[in-house]
Amino acid sequence: MKLLAVLLLCGAVYAKHEQYIGWKSYYVGPKSQEHLQSIGPLAQEFELDILSHPILGREGVVLVKPEHQDGFTKALEEQGIAYRIHTADVKNALDLDDIAIETRRRENLARSGREFPYDNYQEIEVIDDYLIDVASRYPDRATLVLGGNSFEGRPIYYLKISTTNFENNSKPVIFIDGGIHAREWISPPTVTWAIHKLLENVTEPDLLDRFDWILLPVVNPDGYKFSFTTTRFWRKTRSTDQSSISETCPGVDGNRNFDFFWNTVGTSNNACADTFAGSQAFSEAETRVVQSLLHEHLHRIALYLTIHSYGSMFLYPWGHDGSLSNNAFALQIVGVAMADEIFALSLPHFPRYTVGNSVLVIGYPTSGASEDYAHFIGVPLSYTVELPGLDSGLNGFHLNPRYIQQVCYETWEGIVAGARGAGDLFVPYAERN
Ligand SMILES: *[C@@H]1O[C@H](CO)[C@@H](O)[C@H](O)[C@H]1NC(C)=O
Ligand SMILES: *[C@@H]1O[C@H](CO)[C@@H](O)[C@H](O)[C@H]1NC(C)=O
Ligand SMILES: [Zn+2]
Repeated sequence: MKLLAVLLLCGAVYAKHEQYIGWKSYYVGPKSQEHLQSIGPLAQEFELDILSHPILGREGVVLVKPEHQDGFTKALEEQGIAYRIHTADVKNALDLDDIAIETRRRENLARSGREFPYDNYQEIEVIDDYLIDVASRYPDRATLVLGGNSFEGRPIYYLKISTTNFENNSKPVIFIDGGIHAREWISPPTVTWAIHKLLENVTEPDLLDRFDWILLPVVNPDGYKFSFTTTRFWRKTRSTDQSSISETCPGVDGNRNFDFFWNTVGTSNNACADTFAGSQAFSEAETRVVQSLLHEHLHRIALYLTIHSYGSMFLYPWGHDGSLSNNAFALQIVGVAMADEIFALSLPHFPRYTVGNSVLVIGYPTSGASEDYAHFIGVPLSYTVELPGLDSGLNGFHLNPRYIQQVCYETWEGIVAGARGAGDLFVPYAERN
């Protein structure tokens, strides 16, 4: 009986990810600003899926379909951009990932009898159940809010955490979201870990005394679900009402859908593209949840972090043209403070964080990102966080689940430093000029 169960499980695992047969991923190592700038156009031409942005001095990782591999590597050779294979058999690596996740799930269940949203890559239901449960256990400090429903009708939950019931209008607010890009599975655990650290294991009580918190672990539950059930590298939402071909090519890139130089650069008008900006700014129910949270608490949001992967970066505005905002000095200082705290706790084989303006760091502009929008409407400190990750070889494709806790620990230290730094610099909205 047991053997049968194991066989069935293996069968289920191996039948998955067939759409990635023949796909490969490559490291690319641009050595000049010129090289870096050509990554964007190459991505367009060869439908590259950039899993980790290359920066000067650090390779990135791109996923390439079988039909584009020859053209892509030829173009790199012509331009003198170094590359090497990251994963020669993506489907196989994804199968290995599934086994690692399943093994971890069993270990966790054997140890504690239940699953937590920050101890493995978890289905959306496990995350939602945790939010509901933790809010009911800490009613004096936590409020579960249904921010809205996704295109497919899933709840988009967030927690408000406050020792003063969100009623003290002088307290700065820290707003953290995750999971806007479906496949970035390491993002939601860091947000639920922050919830754990603010409710269940408080080691920094000043963070509760000084701030109110908004924590939204999964902005895009439909895409997240789909990345578990069907297409591992799904990035977008799942809306089908955005263009005449949306039924065939659903979804919008949530992080190109905000109303900041919307659809002007680094986006696609093609609904089938991974960076499709949507039919208009805020076309997506999911991005509108973030928009209304930003506006609702705008006068007191001191820090906004939107958590992505991979790349070990704190990126700040402006992302559409690489110019610096008039708050760039503070953005850099607090960004470095977060990166330093993470570095102090990090593992030797994790890359060191890079902090900077997003265009200057990754080499090309994008429009419609939430980090830019938040800053544009008045959030003083706003960052896109690219978490560390990407194993290769026998560890499977993505960050092995055994590192999830490490990423949660170190990211939390960054959040602590970011909140304190943002609190020290905070000027109430009415007193700004
Ligand atoms: C409200 O928050 C501010 C800033 O943290 C604090 O100085 C003040 O004492 C708080 N007021 C009340 C009534 O708790
Ligand atoms: C709380 O966190 C501290 C510091 O990380 C840890 O040592 C302790 O075991 C945790 N306590 C609980 C109850 O989880
Ligand atoms: Zn992302």
